[in-house]
Amino acid sequence: MFVFKAAVVGAGTMGGEIAQAVAAAGIPVVLKDVEQRFVDQGLEKAREVTGGQLGRLVAKEKLTQEQADAQAQALLGAITGATDYDAFGDVDFVIEAVPERMEIKHAVFAELDACTPGHAILASNTSGLSISEIADATQRPDKVVGFHFFWPASIMRLIEVIEGELTSPETLQVAANFAQEIRKTPVRCGEVPGFVVNRILMSTAAEVWRFQDESGTPVQEIDRVIAESKVVPMGPFFLADMSGLDTGLKVAEQMVEAYGDRFYVHQGMQRLVAEGHLGQKSGKGFYEHGR
Ligand SMILES: NC(=O)c1ccc[n+]([C@@H]2O[C@H](COP(=O)([O-])OP(=O)(O)OC[C@H]3O[C@@H](n4cnc5c(N)ncnc54)[C@H](O)[C@@H]3O)[C@@H](O)[C@H]2O)c1
Repeated sequence: MFVFKAAVVGAGTMGGEIAQAVAAAGIPVVLKDVEQRFVDQGLEKAREVTGGQLGRLVAKEKLTQEQADAQAQALLGAITGATDYDAFGDVDFVIEAVPERMEIKHAVFAELDACTPGHAILASNTSGLSISEIADATQRPDKVVGFHFFWPASIMRLIEVIEGELTSPETLQVAANFAQEIRKTPVRCGEVPGFVVNRILMSTAAEVWRFQDESGTPVQEIDRVIAESKVVPMGPFFLADMSGLDTGLKVAEQMVEAYGDRFYVHQGMQRLVAEGHLGQKSGKGFYEHGR
């Protein structure tokens, strides 16, 4: 099956960039959220990422400014913002990117089951919830699949394609093909907590978080040393801020629940989330972010 039209539900930290990646491959995409201001934030993110990507090509003289402007217009014109499901009647592939809570995923998947054509594949960008359990909210569990991007989705190449208990081989194939269509690299994963990447990433982060809680070393100091080592592009506390502390905390909790004290929940992060400080998206986390 070829994906002629896609949709993204949830225009937050991940949704705007995912819609941008889909549109950059020339595929029309609907970007839905519950309120217009969230849709606008997602569209703004797509605009910002597109401007950066095309601006770099102009700077390298691979495109003229006129060509870049035309490409930006075509790309952004392929994304339609929405606060309802009116434009979902002819979509082939939906990527859900709403908060990491099963009750919200269930509500959204039940709505998607009702408003999309029977052949449409319903994919979740969940970081660690069970795909089989998410699929329970639909009449088409064979067409429900995990489709896990990484932050920032406009840059990171990998997509984990996760097989639920009832996901069909055809759905897995379409998901893998679609990932390639949008210029990403799919990797098939079993339905285990943390899939592949978060098991690796979160076990490394756990050591850093444990050390910070125990020693009280300033997070900025730890981030500076790690970033300067150039092993990774940024320190783990800054990364957590940029990708959302509520999401990071949920993933850490899922890992501890599944694997015990090989993993770790950072107490400072827990406190910040309890106070409503979610990182870049709320303006404050481990760092202050101008908004
Ligand atoms: N942030 C990351 O680094 C990251 C990476 C990979 C996967 N994920 C996963 O992606 C999903 C989304 O994460 P995020 O960081 O973008 O969250 P976010 O909180 O930044 O954004 C979620 C968006 O969903 C919207 N939303 C809530 N209920 C909705 C509904 N019923 N219908 C439509 N929109 C709704 C919210 O208004 C918000 O704009 C989560 O499952 C998360 O685990 C996140």
